[in-house]
Amino acid sequence: MSIPADVAPRPLKPALLELHGISRASIEAHYRLYQGYVGKRNEILAALAGLDRADANQVYSELRALKVELSFAVGGVKNHELYFGHLGGPGGDPSGAIRDLIERDFGSVAAWRDDLRATGMAGRGWAWTAYDWDERRLSNHIGDAQNTYPVWNATPLVALDTYEHAYFLDYQTDRGAYIDAFFANLDWSVVNGWVSAYGIPAA
Ligand SMILES: [Fe+2]
Repeated sequence: MSIPADVAPRPLKPALLELHGISRASIEAHYRLYQGYVGKRNEILAALAGLDRADANQVYSELRALKVELSFAVGGVKNHELYFGHLGGPGGDPSGAIRDLIERDFGSVAAWRDDLRATGMAGRGWAWTAYDWDERRLSNHIGDAQNTYPVWNATPLVALDTYEHAYFLDYQTDRGAYIDAFFANLDWSVVNGWVSAYGIPAA
């Protein structure tokens, strides 16, 4: 089987080193973790290419182990590209298309923020705002690990990383303070760019 092309880590935007309430040291360590996910994605795909498919077994097999951990590595890549992609902005309330969607589907920006904050407090690794193409609305979801609880045919638009590695250096166990800092650094123009690029229907 041919090996899919390697992917390379996306460069870290300089603005991420100057966030409000999330330190440069924290972001640099977090970026190194992201680089690790990229490396493991490439390594696992190369290992998979050389396996004999006849040995696949649901109890234990190399194929099973590698495919399960591939989902963790690829999740780690995609999740952090969203996370780093939409930080570095001025925070505040959203504007434009994403504001209209949030107000339609949550009632108000405050209600959306309260629910995502609570979702982030209830999760172990991630909280998401995603657009569900079947229900045609936004909703907030928990993702405990890089690869848990995906909702099929839903497109993530806000990616709140609540793994301890995202905040322990700056806030120890005060996850709520970190979540407030996350909101204060969101770049809504990036999120609106995704809404437009994906062709999400206007509210
Ligand atoms: Fe992370």
